[in-house]
Amino acid sequence: MVPASVPAAPPVAPGVRDLPFVTLHLPAGPAPWARASRVAVQDPLPSAYVGLSDDELERRIWAARNKLGTRLVILGHHYQRDDIIKFADFRGDSFGLSREAASRPDAEFIVFCGVHFMAETAAILGAPHQRVVLPNLTAGCSMADMADIFEVRECWAALQAVGVERVVPVTYMNSAADLKAFCGQHGGIVCTSSNARAVYDWAFTQGDRLLFFPDQYLGRNTGYAKGLTDDQMPLWDPRELDGGADPEAYRRARAILWRGWCSVHKRFTIDQVRQARAGHPGVRILVHPECTSDVVAAADLNGSTEFIVRQVRQAPAGTVWAIGTEINLVHRLAQEHPEQTIFCLDPVVCPCSTMYRIHPSFLLWALENLVEGRVVNQIAVSPEIRQHARVALERMLAVH
Ligand code: 13P
Ligand code: SF4
Repeated sequence: MVPASVPAAPPVAPGVRDLPFVTLHLPAGPAPWARASRVAVQDPLPSAYVGLSDDELERRIWAARNKLGTRLVILGHHYQRDDIIKFADFRGDSFGLSREAASRPDAEFIVFCGVHFMAETAAILGAPHQRVVLPNLTAGCSMADMADIFEVRECWAALQAVGVERVVPVTYMNSAADLKAFCGQHGGIVCTSSNARAVYDWAFTQGDRLLFFPDQYLGRNTGYAKGLTDDQMPLWDPRELDGGADPEAYRRARAILWRGWCSVHKRFTIDQVRQARAGHPGVRILVHPECTSDVVAAADLNGSTEFIVRQVRQAPAGTVWAIGTEINLVHRLAQEHPEQTIFCLDPVVCPCSTMYRIHPSFLLWALENLVEGRVVNQIAVSPEIRQHARVALERMLAVH
């Protein structure tokens, strides 16, 4: 029986899941990402790990962690639940976590408590001998799934065919490794919510326009911050023939934005901003730049999860915050800062259900296997993809 707090698994053949967002275990050869199968094997959580009490989980996770000592580093994204984040050696936003993964060569194992694209990035930036483990392979990102390599290559070819030139591909960190490799191979770069503006500046030194995927809102919000207007930022809709806009619009563009979004951040609305301001005079509205552009424009501040944490930490007692981001982070900030008033901008909050899939039972299972010398749920990237994706990621780390 699965305890109520473990998200139910979809009905699948035993031991095998067809996942749209999991590791690329690809053979060597030409253009390997053209064959990206995105299929991985997820061992089901053994029954011995199901239904353990919170106390037992906690005790055994600490015990396994202590046995592994400095061979292990646990990285945790800010959206992780409290009963996971407390075990993290380092917590941060996507940018900070990638920098951390690149700077821990002594650790034999990196256990990544976050979602798939983050663990994959750690596998690309880490040293070749390191093993990266994602405790639950079903922890993906629905936004990252909104662009795949076939669609991006099709878009690239279609733009070239209508004379759109000097395009710099920029992929948001929330994307599969093969998209990062595409950027590395085509003079492009990876960005995160914490360096997107600097990445725009960099890209405009390399070409005349960006192709930005998969998050249209981070792309547009960053474009506005750089003084671009809507007609310089046409959408590319992968479900429409030739992107859905006039070729002239793409030729004029400074940033061509992929039609993708985050279903968690898209829930925040301008009405919620108005209600927060009406109900709490003096409130500071602080949102993530994956929110829609009207919400970001109406907010007082926007930035990455680390930026959000920093703003709250630095604020004086008595500050009132309405925060537009994932609920685990908002709750944690409210608990850690009782001297301030902190609430979620959306009263009917929506957690990131995939981040939530890193349940302590999965973490314990992964750690106890490492203690026994078995690596479960390893995230690995083929050498070809790794090589090109690393180029784009190293550019990202240099631009901040
Ligand atoms: P950060 O890089 O700001 O942590 O964002 C990651 C993410 O997935 C937000 O939804
Ligand atoms: Fe992806 Fe949105 Fe979850 Fe971030 S909050 S991991 S963008 S689904």
